[in-house]
Amino acid sequence: MAELKAVPIVALDYGTAADALALVRALGDSCGFYKVGSELFTAAGPAVIRAIREMGHEVFLDLKFHDIPNTVAGAVRSAVETGASMLTVHASGGSAMLKAAVDAAGSCRVMGVTVLTSFTAAGLGEAWGREVPDVGREVARLAGLCEAAGAHGLVCSGHELAGVRSAAPGLRPLVPGIRFADGATHDQARVMTPEAAAGAGAAYLVIGRMVTGAPDPVAAMRRVNAALG
Ligand code: C5P
Repeated sequence: MAELKAVPIVALDYGTAADALALVRALGDSCGFYKVGSELFTAAGPAVIRAIREMGHEVFLDLKFHDIPNTVAGAVRSAVETGASMLTVHASGGSAMLKAAVDAAGSCRVMGVTVLTSFTAAGLGEAWGREVPDVGREVARLAGLCEAAGAHGLVCSGHELAGVRSAAPGLRPLVPGIRFADGATHDQARVMTPEAAAGAGAAYLVIGRMVTGAPDPVAAMRRVNAALG
């Protein structure tokens, strides 16, 4: 079993603030954070973060920053200004970029994205122009960069948790690609159930279409929380 209860985070992957806030109203306190990603942020901007904060909830800003260190530091400062209490940067941006993000974040939690959960080894090898025999090894390598830079945690699939916990034991793993055992995987290649991810040591779980795409999101969220115990 998990050492600590994994915190569920609901991904507000919507194109309008009205749709996102309607789900926040429906789900209320049944998750630890609401995730604002690039679709919603590009459509609705910082105002949607402030609205979620005013409703009494924490915001995880998942914009996966990846740029030169100075620009990422500025983006992180702007993210902190909006009221986000957790954010993502790509670990492949390198040590200097990760360190700049951590320095700019203050008490806001910086999570390093290792390898997107939609990647297979073949897809990653094609993108990086070299053979990738084992995604887990790449994730563990990037986890080491995140830990050395002082990040709070990292993003990886449930399948890489064991390797990450030994490569970077001080980091808090956040796991997307969560699915019910009887659910669709959509475009995610590396998926896991909530209870399996929590049992393998995930500190945070990103809950997306398994709840937002369910006919009854409130009932689906109840099922997630029941699975987490
Ligand atoms: O709907 P689904 O559960 O696939 O949602 C996954 C969410 O997690 C999306 O918002 C996606 O951007 C995010 N995410 C991911 N893989 C990562 C990091 C974030 O799927 N490595």
